Amino acid sequence: MKKKLGSILLILIGCVGGSTYSQQQHGLTPTFHQERRDELRYLMPPHSVAVLFGAPIRNRSNSVDYIYHQSPNFYYLTGWREPHAVLILFSENQIDEIGNFDEILFVRPKDPYHEMWEGKRLGIQGAKEMGFDRVMAKENFKNYQIDFETFEQILFFNFQNDIINTDDVSDLFDLVQNFQSKINYSEKALKSNNFNQDLLRQYLTQLREIKTPEEIELLKKAIFISVQGQLEVMKAINESMTEREIQGIHEFVHKKYGANDVGYPSIVGSGNNACILHYRANNKTDIKGELVLMDVGAEFQYYTGDITRTVPASGKFNDQQKAIYQIVFEAQKAGINAARLGNSFRSIYRASSQIIQEGLLNLGIIRKPEEYRKYFPHGVTHHIGLDVHDWGEYQDLKENMVITIEPGIYIPEGSDCDPKWWDIGIRIEDDILISTDGPINLSVDLPRHWKDIEDIMALPSALDDFKLPPIK
Ligand code: GLY
Ligand code: MN
Ligand code: MN
Repeated sequence: MKKKLGSILLILIGCVGGSTYSQQQHGLTPTFHQERRDELRYLMPPHSVAVLFGAPIRNRSNSVDYIYHQSPNFYYLTGWREPHAVLILFSENQIDEIGNFDEILFVRPKDPYHEMWEGKRLGIQGAKEMGFDRVMAKENFKNYQIDFETFEQILFFNFQNDIINTDDVSDLFDLVQNFQSKINYSEKALKSNNFNQDLLRQYLTQLREIKTPEEIELLKKAIFISVQGQLEVMKAINESMTEREIQGIHEFVHKKYGANDVGYPSIVGSGNNACILHYRANNKTDIKGELVLMDVGAEFQYYTGDITRTVPASGKFNDQQKAIYQIVFEAQKAGINAARLGNSFRSIYRASSQIIQEGLLNLGIIRKPEEYRKYFPHGVTHHIGLDVHDWGEYQDLKENMVITIEPGIYIPEGSDCDPKWWDIGIRIEDDILISTDGPINLSVDLPRHWKDIEDIMALPSALDDFKLPPIK
């Protein structure tokens, strides 16, 4: 019965999925990307041209590359997920023998041989279905006639000089070289003529820091998935688990929901490892009696959640763990409360850090207020979006920004305080939408209070009976 339903569904999907574009699982519509390009064009100075390149393919070793991840800026403006692509955007309409145009996208054409090995390419037709009128094969970029001297400003990002040159004569390496030769690029020329490497960053920062409704929908999905991962782990965790196993449960749940990746390497650190801020080894096998800090974010359709919970492996916080947890909890509450329109990013930090300062003084962990930085050495908030640390000006809070609030206290072994506090590392991180109605916690379905966490941890898990034979 189940199987039959499956094949009927497959037939139906086959019928509706006619076009190349719709075959690509896509989070945003072509209109979204088109509007983003229009917004950028609107910001660009008169008589200017912007040239953007896709991300390079990165080699892991020998014949194996890392999974390709498009540059967030390129994706934001185009929706294009394939490598070896160039976007040229003009501030005004251009005209040639074919007609009017204000943008050109160069892409990899279709190629049955390579598609057999590496999977489908959208090709020129696919790019047209994504809203680009003028699309050309990347092979044509080199000989495409464009007189960059006639533009008052040419906007482009710094060349990273980390692109592999393969034997494809129009790979990204060659596309960048061709562009450099078209504009007579040199380090010296950078200072003296119509090149501008700052404006693109400034404009894309301005655009990307405010999320559109479509982006907020995708962020909500990425956050929902991240929350489910944390909930399942809270139910499943026991003291015989390893850090790696816990990481696996988070990421298994993400994938059940169709998340393709995590937005950053998952952090699952127990005991002293919880005090390593960007810990990613996740290789401790004995978590007995420890607190486990889990900073894990699902990436869904290129947008990422960023959520941290810290839980006791045993299911119960001890007195020291609870005392520190309460300080971080209150610090986060104060930070969220400060996340209001017109307030500054700095004011969130001040609200949270003041609580941490007072809390550590009260427990005798520090003697002077300024010593709190030893145990709380990071910021409290950042934008999330296409990047986990998303682009933004970080000045005043504006409507439809989505930010994290993530205070923490970390007391590694050997710290200058009573050893009973050692090996406690706690961070609580939630994802907050800035709105005219005040801060909206998008990850509110994931409990934060210590008692609520203990209650969830006492629930049974579908993984309780999941047993595998020992490794041979
Ligand atoms: N997951 C990295 C951070 O919280 O900033
Ligand atoms: Mn964060
Ligand atoms: Mn995080």
